[in-house]
Amino acid sequence: MTAVGIDAMEIWTGKLKLDLAETFAPAQGDDPGKYTKGLGLHASSFPDVYEDIVTMAANAAHRLMERKGLGPDDVGRIDVATESSFDNSKPVSTYVAGCLEQVYDGDFHHANKGERKFACIAGTQSLDDAYNWIRAGRNRGRSAIVIATDTALYARDDPGEATQGAGAVAMLVSEDPDLVELSAEQGFGSADETDFLKPNQQFPSVDGKRSVNVYLARMREALDDFESAAGDIHPDDYPLIPFHTPFPGMVRKAAALGYRHIIRGTDVEDAVAAEIGHQPMREDFETDDAFRDAIREYTDSLTETERYKDWYADTIDPTLEISREVGNWYTGSVHIARAAGLKHARENGRDLDGKQLLVASYGSGAQAEVHAETVVPGWEEEIAQLNIDEQNRERYDLSFEEYEQIHDVHNHDTEADVEEFTAPESEFVFDGWGRMGERKYRYVE
Ligand code: HMG
Repeated sequence: MTAVGIDAMEIWTGKLKLDLAETFAPAQGDDPGKYTKGLGLHASSFPDVYEDIVTMAANAAHRLMERKGLGPDDVGRIDVATESSFDNSKPVSTYVAGCLEQVYDGDFHHANKGERKFACIAGTQSLDDAYNWIRAGRNRGRSAIVIATDTALYARDDPGEATQGAGAVAMLVSEDPDLVELSAEQGFGSADETDFLKPNQQFPSVDGKRSVNVYLARMREALDDFESAAGDIHPDDYPLIPFHTPFPGMVRKAAALGYRHIIRGTDVEDAVAAEIGHQPMREDFETDDAFRDAIREYTDSLTETERYKDWYADTIDPTLEISREVGNWYTGSVHIARAAGLKHARENGRDLDGKQLLVASYGSGAQAEVHAETVVPGWEEEIAQLNIDEQNRERYDLSFEEYEQIHDVHNHDTEADVEEFTAPESEFVFDGWGRMGERKYRYVE
């Protein structure tokens, strides 16, 4: 069977930066440690005045097509995942195609386009759609462009404000990929939850503390379900485990839970039990306080072991390196975690050819999904193309007053007339409104 997976990717960050320790914490009267140590975040990315989910998506996709030498005829599908859409009918992918048609000969009239919504997990669901389309043999030799793009804003003074972020990830899904091969085995944990939602409103209504527990409960179900599809798993099977990362502190909790799952029934579980003096937890409780307390007691001891700390340093920590600097990108978040892990591995000479990643996606509302991917030869060359460090360094560093202004610019309910902070160059920009309320875009040379 021909391999299908991610052939290449590009990341585009919003061009503004809010430093959480230097700028946000003092304005809030908070200890910077709450953000840098507690949440594990150093900075958030924001879109400049002329940026939005379309420009970030189109710029990432354009760079991907240029680098891979593709034209519109090579692309049979443009799937956009977002939870920051501004239109209940016309999908963002049509705007993205319209942008790209300004700079390419030819058009995307033959390409199937859509928009996926299920909070942050929609990016992974769009990858699934592209994978299934190629697997079904409907692609006629063409590839799919999958884009996860979001402006993850919270209302001012919401506890989620420190976790904001904005950016896009564009992925090329093809036969014989050069980055990772996707697999058919998946595990799901899905339930009707009201932890984080946007009922016809731009900013989310969030029950923040509960959302953390819902994430963990659904992730636990997805790991169980994955094991029932893929069979027994072992920590040595996965050199990297990218999780959905609303903030790295969330992944710290999810990783402890994940490790407990992955070591179940293995030699590692026995070794850990001998070391911490706790019997491994084998009971199947419902998700209730008693169960959470029991898990917490076990994982608190587990995470103190040298074995766990080494595993976390190798398998989890590298996946957080980009998120720490850019915040939550919602649909793109797990995909920048994968990119960060692979980037770190390349820079540190780790040989991942043929190795598996366990990818753990999540979306509020709520659903977790776990699947394995195989890293394919060629991955190092692909990952070496990412310029996210350079983009992050070049961001304009906002003062708190400027942050307030740009938050107003992107707030749909606020009129704000603010000068741009950076100068666009070789990129798509927002260019005002059309007569039917549509958004207009143009390419700046
Ligand atoms: P909060 O009330 O601002 O923070 O809300 P806190 O007081 O709970 O502190 C956070 C952590 O910092 C705690 O650590 C504190 O102890 C620690 P923990 O106990 O959790 O390990 N801390 C400090 N550490 C060192 N030095 C200090 C210090 N002070 C405190 N000085 C909350 C946190 C997550 C609730 C908030 O940020 C929020 O509401 N965020 C938005 C919702 C969210 O991100 N939920 C995550 C799970 S849901 C999800 O991932 C889906 C999502 O991406 C959306 C989608 O799917 O579309 C959000």
